[in-house]
Amino acid sequence: MLLEIKNLAVEVSGKLVLKDINLSIDEGETHVLLGPNGAGKSTLFLTILGFPQYKVVKGSIIFKGQDITDLTTDERVKLGIGVSFQNPPTIRGVSVRDLLKLESHQEMDEELNPRMKELAEKLKFSDEFLDRDVNFGFSGGEVKRSEILQLLAQMPDFTMFDEPDSGVDIENVELLSAEIRTLLDKDKKHAQRKRSGLLITHLGYILNFVEADKAHVLMDGEIACSGNPKEILEDIRKDGFKGCVQCAQCGSGC
Ligand SMILES: Nc1ncnc2c1ncn2[C@@H]1O[C@H](COP(=O)(O)OP(=O)(O)OP(=O)(O)O)[C@@H](O)[C@H]1O
Ligand SMILES: [Mg+2]
Repeated sequence: MLLEIKNLAVEVSGKLVLKDINLSIDEGETHVLLGPNGAGKSTLFLTILGFPQYKVVKGSIIFKGQDITDLTTDERVKLGIGVSFQNPPTIRGVSVRDLLKLESHQEMDEELNPRMKELAEKLKFSDEFLDRDVNFGFSGGEVKRSEILQLLAQMPDFTMFDEPDSGVDIENVELLSAEIRTLLDKDKKHAQRKRSGLLITHLGYILNFVEADKAHVLMDGEIACSGNPKEILEDIRKDGFKGCVQCAQCGSGC
């Protein structure tokens, strides 16, 4: 397994947000995390990334066979974990271009390398745009495209996407999806895929472009059920999230 989460319980500001999470993601797999607002999805992402305010009170996170529960965020990122944030911060005084150079291990006084230049163009970022401060005054769609561009600079082994499609128009969802596929080795044959990911989506539209291997429904800080992404989404559309809880309670899965 690339990532194994065992009996994880997490407290934020004294509140128990995640209760007993068990989740395993293998090399080359993409999983989807579904769940109502406030269920704890972003909390799980930020805990995997090691944000200090998310306190692990029970359980462990294993990545590439190593217990990373007590590692700092930068140590986890160096091991190959990346994230596209739901609400990334604005970074005044740091341009998108500078951040891309850092993320692709370039010197600050160098020109942006040709691969990154090409990717920036593909994601519709002009030269002037690259000189703007990170996320300062960006539109919703620009924020999401900038997050994906930064991930393409890093090419992590395991990438978490927190609602990459929210606030993005149809044409840009297709554009973003193509790059998310690259980040998840989707254009390779299943057996040859190495990169893995965990994708949060509220409406599931992105799954029309990026296929997933397994879905999990997070309800009230616990995984209520897991299974085939298309079937689970269909059940949620039909019966709501409560239907999933009923399935889990009767022990038959969704
Ligand atoms: N820093 C924090 N301080 C206090 N409460 C927090 C903090 N972070 C998260 N929470 C609480 O934890 C719960 C889960 O929040 P989280 O952001 O993980 O939900 P989510 O499933 O990502 O929801 P959404 O679908 O709306 O993005 C919420 O009740 C939220 O208010
Ligand atoms: Mg969230």
